[in-house]
Amino acid sequence: MPARRFTVLIATAAIFLLTVSDVAWATMPPPKPGPLAEPQTTHQVGFPDRLYKFVIPPDNPESPAKVALGKALFFDPRLSVDNTVACANCHDPDKGFTDQLRTAMGVHAQFGQRNAPTVLNAMFNIEQFWDGRRATLEDQARDPILNPIEMGMPDQQTVVKKLNSIPEYQREFNAVFGQAPNYDNLVKAIAAYERTQIAFDSPFDRFMAGDDQALTAQQKRGWALFNGQGRCMSCHGWNPTRPLFTDDRFHNIGVSAHNAKFVPHARQALALLSQAGGPQEIDRLAIATDMSEVGRFLVTKQPHDIGAFRTMGLRNLYVTEPYFHDGSQATIWDTLDHYNKGGVQNPFLDGGIVPLGLSSQQEDDLAAFLLSLTSQRYMTQAKQEYARQFRISRTTRPQRDTAAAMGLKGREGPGFEGPFGDIGPSQQEMALNPALLGGY
Ligand code: HEC
Ligand code: HEC
Repeated sequence: MPARRFTVLIATAAIFLLTVSDVAWATMPPPKPGPLAEPQTTHQVGFPDRLYKFVIPPDNPESPAKVALGKALFFDPRLSVDNTVACANCHDPDKGFTDQLRTAMGVHAQFGQRNAPTVLNAMFNIEQFWDGRRATLEDQARDPILNPIEMGMPDQQTVVKKLNSIPEYQREFNAVFGQAPNYDNLVKAIAAYERTQIAFDSPFDRFMAGDDQALTAQQKRGWALFNGQGRCMSCHGWNPTRPLFTDDRFHNIGVSAHNAKFVPHARQALALLSQAGGPQEIDRLAIATDMSEVGRFLVTKQPHDIGAFRTMGLRNLYVTEPYFHDGSQATIWDTLDHYNKGGVQNPFLDGGIVPLGLSSQQEDDLAAFLLSLTSQRYMTQAKQEYARQFRISRTTRPQRDTAAAMGLKGREGPGFEGPFGDIGPSQQEMALNPALLGGY
């Protein structure tokens, strides 16, 4: 076949495939609210009563009518530019309020840079998003609707106009807020619904409440490792008043180091943010560009925050796979192997990330312990996923590096050129441009 005709053939095939996959994705209907989408009772073992009182904002009290409105909005694809994507597409209650994809997919089958975190217990987050760029659930909800590759609406006015053209919403907004639909009340209603997604009531909560039988012997060994040799507790803190397994801080644990050119991306982000530094611009950089990988730095512009992301809570992990801000780890065992070898080296790595020397048996114990953080309503699903990941972990361990984990090998390898490893300027670059000294 002549080369030219072959090229045309390949190009046609590619366009065909793209179109087919686009249609296949785009016509996937948004999920319908099932039993797992129901507002949850606060009567759950382990539920932090006192903390809950602090997370309901005084200007947005809960009410059944507001929650019902918020739920309808959460599942409504009409909040997107082409009526295909609802919040629930990426935060599906049947998938632990995530999409179980590596990174999330919005309108026109566009994929973003980040993994969709769960909405379960998100009301307790001190800051929202992997980089904490928004403080409250109300403010968080403003962004995805207007993000070009999530729900793609051009501006607030268009959203409000669309809501006002739907008689049910006119009626319900009036009933709840005494006003026609507007953007502030839209995000208030959605946040009120999200605050009903409380998820405690796990074997671990029953164990802490005094039921010694709630954990298996293996899970108890895992809990001891979580506090001890695994050092997990130092970031994923648990205590009876904040039983959320997070310190609500930001750390570079070396996830981005796989693929990021931290220093150039940080410089590029600084230049762009000095022109337009509002929340919507940060949202765009975080979701749609390579600069996503500098993490918390987009918000604080502090060099020590380069590649830092929020410590995620650890409840219901076996329904919210895959893991980390970029969805880069397929199984819990992969995340454990990542920690065990001391993360991936980079100049901004958190001091708390060091080789752990855990044996395979100890990693299994930790993985079993994490299953005990599953809420009762997700337990059946989670056990299946745990079994699936367990099987994978017997044969496939891409992150495992036993010599590094045991401290038996140096951490510098080929490709670590300058004092900032493989991601900073090289000696040669610094010699040519002394301004690069200092690394950022
Ligand atoms: C296209 C998929 C997509 C859609 C649609 C979407 N989200 Fe998200 N959501 C994400 C991703 C990805 C993140 C993390 C982004 C980041 O941290 O930079 C996120 C983060 C969040 C968080 C923060 C959770 C945490 O632990 O930080 C909440 C809450 C949330 N979304 C609620 C909503 C609501 C409400 C809507 C609808 C108005 C919505 N999302 C629409 C993908 C989506
Ligand atoms: C230095 C602080 C720190 C320590 C120590 C730590 N973590 Fe993390 N953990 C984080 C941060 C920060 C993230 C998010 C990182 C990212 O995605 O870039 C995270 C994410 C995770 C995730 C993925 C959560 C999700 O929803 O994707 C799991 C699982 C996890 N950690 C388990 C553990 C376990 C088990 C240990 C102990 C072996 C541990 N962590 C120790 C800070 C820490």
